[in-house]
Amino acid sequence: MLDRPIAPPHAVAEAPFRHGPPKPALLTVEDAKALDLRTMADLFKEHVNPGQFHFMKLLGFHKVKVERAEGMYYVDQNGRRILDFFGGFGSLAFGHNHPRILKARKTFQDENRHEIAIAFLSQYAAALAKNLATISPGDLDMVFLGSSGSEAMEAAIKVAERASGRKNCKIVHAENSFHGKTKGVLSITDSTLYQGEFKLVENRYKVPFGDLEALTRCVESDPEIGVVVLETVQGGGGIVEASTDYWRGVRALCDKHKVLWVADEVQCGYGRTGTFYAFERHGVVPDVTALAKSLGGGKAAIGAMIARREVYMKAYGTPKTAMIHAHATFGGIGEASITAIEALNTLYDEDLIGNSEIVGSYLIERLNDLKAKYPQIIKEVRGRGLMVGLEFHDFSRTLPLALRPMVALLDDKLKGSLSGFVGALMLRDYDCLVAFTEYNRNVIRLEPPLICTEEHVDTFCDALDDLLGRGIVGIVKDFIKTQIG
Ligand SMILES: Cc1ncc(COP(=O)(O)O)c(C=O)c1O
Repeated sequence: MLDRPIAPPHAVAEAPFRHGPPKPALLTVEDAKALDLRTMADLFKEHVNPGQFHFMKLLGFHKVKVERAEGMYYVDQNGRRILDFFGGFGSLAFGHNHPRILKARKTFQDENRHEIAIAFLSQYAAALAKNLATISPGDLDMVFLGSSGSEAMEAAIKVAERASGRKNCKIVHAENSFHGKTKGVLSITDSTLYQGEFKLVENRYKVPFGDLEALTRCVESDPEIGVVVLETVQGGGGIVEASTDYWRGVRALCDKHKVLWVADEVQCGYGRTGTFYAFERHGVVPDVTALAKSLGGGKAAIGAMIARREVYMKAYGTPKTAMIHAHATFGGIGEASITAIEALNTLYDEDLIGNSEIVGSYLIERLNDLKAKYPQIIKEVRGRGLMVGLEFHDFSRTLPLALRPMVALLDDKLKGSLSGFVGALMLRDYDCLVAFTEYNRNVIRLEPPLICTEEHVDTFCDALDDLLGRGIVGIVKDFIKTQIG
């Protein structure tokens, strides 16, 4: 028998019942919701990432406290509705808080369903895996579930490496690639900034993206090359596509040399470019692929690696090898899995892939009109569906001499690039949010939710038209005013 009274379940143990340490001064959920902007900023700088705060301030993001988010909009502390063309880098296919996805989650909670899927089989993870296999072409049938795009891509390169049969397997990746920041995939993420001084995985080669000759030369130069990893559309590189001939060539080259092709669809997949997977447009099927971002319906952290059955079985298909890369603690967790199931059903029921193609074409058309109107500002409009890149000319040499020292003072990243200025002013003056690009500071990324309509595109493009109408000097001057005002 216990020699102490038992506190009622879920009650906070008051002093006489307490055997553990006293409760520290913890903020409650209500405290968190009620934090004011200044306290949020202080806490972020003290406990999260002071350097990142610098960029948020530069762009004016630090003035926004999001109180609600619905559909295409964030709503801030003053009731201002901010049109979201950033879309969490492609994580918000359904917009914010899609009611059908919220309802499925609430029902799941009300039914006291279980989450962790380690001891017992999970009906939720199994059903999600079946859905992903159904959607994926060919025999892309075996599914590993994790909590992020990086984790899905780690799983992808590991399954491919093992299945390649090479003892000292080498991996080819592309220039300007982004596959995540965990250590394995960081090694094939082409950024000197992110790779820093870390000791990386060494078995890798880098080739230009979209250049079949270069890839062929590379693959044929070393028989230990067993894996080729490529984003189907490069996101961090500034929305860069490759031709159908290239992708068919990649498939044929890999088949010829028994090399496995891993297609990273974390950003470009999930209907964003008008087909579920971006590679489907080219009539080819990779050996392994990965999804994340919108897979979680904008509400759950979930990623998936999907491998051809033969590839998976070769890597982990026996009881002896099965646990080498089995699910981690949160892999296939209940609520994330049912969120992903409901989201996939919603994607098709609402024909969001079709919408992405149609509204995306309209967005690209309108942006091309702006390019024709402002040829000295817009260099190129790129992309497909609702994954669009808007590249500005580098103005570092055309900006009037008088303004150059002021711009130089602001920040290294902004010197020759209009994207930061345009992004900051689109938010400040037009309540529109856009995304920036890791490796190409002249590119704005537009990845609005797939529920986006032509009216949203008009609102956005009219605002951009108005802003660009101020001219480069006007934009830069207005931006500088925000920094000193
Ligand atoms: C193409 C691609 N792969 C992998 C990742 C990593 O995903 P996560 O940030 O969920 O780890 C990203 C993230 O932006 C991505 O764009």
